[in-house]
Amino acid sequence: MDHSFWHQIWQANQIGFHQPDINPWLQGYWSGVAGPDTGKVLVPLCGKSRDLWWLHERGHPVVGVELSPIACTDFFAEAGQTPEIRADTRFTRYVLDRLELWCGDFFALKAEDVQDVHRVYDRAALIALPPDMRRRYADLLCAILPADTRMLLITLDHDADVSGPPFAVPEEEVRSLYGPYFDVDTLRTTTLPEDHPLVQRGMQGAREEVFVLTRQK
Ligand SMILES: C[S@@+](CC[C@H](N)C(=O)[O-])C[C@H]1O[C@@H](n2cnc3c(N)ncnc32)[C@H](O)[C@@H]1O
Repeated sequence: MDHSFWHQIWQANQIGFHQPDINPWLQGYWSGVAGPDTGKVLVPLCGKSRDLWWLHERGHPVVGVELSPIACTDFFAEAGQTPEIRADTRFTRYVLDRLELWCGDFFALKAEDVQDVHRVYDRAALIALPPDMRRRYADLLCAILPADTRMLLITLDHDADVSGPPFAVPEEEVRSLYGPYFDVDTLRTTTLPEDHPLVQRGMQGAREEVFVLTRQK
């Protein structure tokens, strides 16, 4: 899944993954994941998700990382906001108050970029990547995230022979990717309704799964 694939998706506005509303599992589970902590939240592969505004409104500084300049521009424009734009070697940073979108390749992130991150929100990021990239993605997060990090992770699993993205990521894979570094707890599994676009695409029996990951000391 190279960069041009995603640039094309955004160019053609084929963004079926984008949610017009705030994710219900974020709303339902965030207070349990964050507790009283209003520390910085990292949102990898964030698209133009409105969930970032929701997190920001709850007092968190937020950093989203996203490849597409279209997504970054639209994110602020659709909210009627004008960010300051700062280009550096790895990322172009769109900054508004304590909400930043870093436009560039997630795999260029370094530990120093996330040293003050307390929480991570992954909705449709891990499952956007094919198996080899999922391993690289999780390995990078495990390598750079600080000791007390917790993550709300929303994935998809199904048994259908349909290729992604989104890719099917079974619970065992989540545990294998993150288990050596994080305690992995399943919060809920929800079967998608028959009229869901992914089921209509052939992913019968698709299940959305919600996990909380707590970094081991
Ligand atoms: C399935 S979308 C999910 C977006 C968002 N999490 C949401 O819930 O709407 C995956 C996003 O990852 C971005 N992306 C893919 N590869 C990336 C990379 N290497 N670095 C940063 N962003 C990337 C894509 O442009 C796309 O917006």
